[in-house]
Amino acid sequence: MNSEPRLAQSLVEPALAEAALFVESTLDALLPRTVGPEQRLLKAMRYAAIGGGKRLRGFLVLQSGRLFGVDRRALGRVAAAVECVHAYSLVHDDLPAMDNDDLRRGKPTVHREFDEATAILAGDGLLTLAFGLLAEPDAHGDPFVRCDLVARLAHVAGHAGMVGGQMIDMEFEGKMPALPEITRLQRMKTAALITYCCEAGAIMGKASQPLRSALCNYGQELGLAFQIADDLLDAEGDAEAMGKKTRKDDGRGKSTVVSVLGAERAHAQANALAAQAVRHLDLFDEKADLLRAAAEFAVTRRA
Ligand code: IPE
Ligand code: IPE
Ligand code: MG
Ligand code: MG
Ligand code: MG
Repeated sequence: MNSEPRLAQSLVEPALAEAALFVESTLDALLPRTVGPEQRLLKAMRYAAIGGGKRLRGFLVLQSGRLFGVDRRALGRVAAAVECVHAYSLVHDDLPAMDNDDLRRGKPTVHREFDEATAILAGDGLLTLAFGLLAEPDAHGDPFVRCDLVARLAHVAGHAGMVGGQMIDMEFEGKMPALPEITRLQRMKTAALITYCCEAGAIMGKASQPLRSALCNYGQELGLAFQIADDLLDAEGDAEAMGKKTRKDDGRGKSTVVSVLGAERAHAQANALAAQAVRHLDLFDEKADLLRAAAEFAVTRRA
């Protein structure tokens, strides 16, 4: 991506690593280790959710909540819930019927390590678990806040968000949709869940509407920039660093901002979106500096 080493990376990377450790240990505590004939399912769920990933989504939950002084344990639970939804989306995204990938986070994909039926069920299990985590009192003392967390997650993860976007992603394979259509697809499949992560802290902190909206606007631009960067990394990145295969989107006929605009203009578009994301944080003081840096990280990352 951008060649010069950036300040943002040095600022975000330690914070991201710290968030990743916290999210990992929270997931480890929250994902059961059942014995009995369903053991294989729990093993696959843990395999998918624990032991890898940047944890950017969890980090965004923690950082947005920190702006409003939200309890860190509760944030950890919500971050874990979001990472369960994300992990499920990756398990299903990798299935032979979808992107048909063999490698994820440097390990064989779940259907490769286990089998397809187990991968489908592990995804189902992670998605369902996420809603359970949000509904329990440890997520927030106020049941209205818990309902808001659940309802918003249902919206961004479902047909109007991630799953809908994944459907369009498949529909557009081998076609040449115009840029606004691709933008809509990417806002749904990726930016919706990332937006939720930024909004979650505001929901839990009972923030005012302008502050909540500012975080949502930040998340929308960040999420789109993040997916364009993912598409650029597929075209230009180092598979080893990313722990997944690269140069696959083109062969699959995926419609991306890169396939429509070319790499150079896609870089420019991602950078412009990241800058726009940062501007949405103008209402916040230096407490939001890590979020500001995260926007740059999203488009300069190498994995
Ligand atoms: C990959 O997401 C899938 C997309 C939505 C682009 P990440 O790049 O965040 O994957 P992990 O969690 O770090 O493995
Ligand atoms: C996946 O997008 C988006 C999801 C909602 C899972 P990609 O298919 O480009 O993600 P990678 O490149 O396989 O991680
Ligand atoms: Mg995909
Ligand atoms: Mg994929
Ligand atoms: Mg990709």
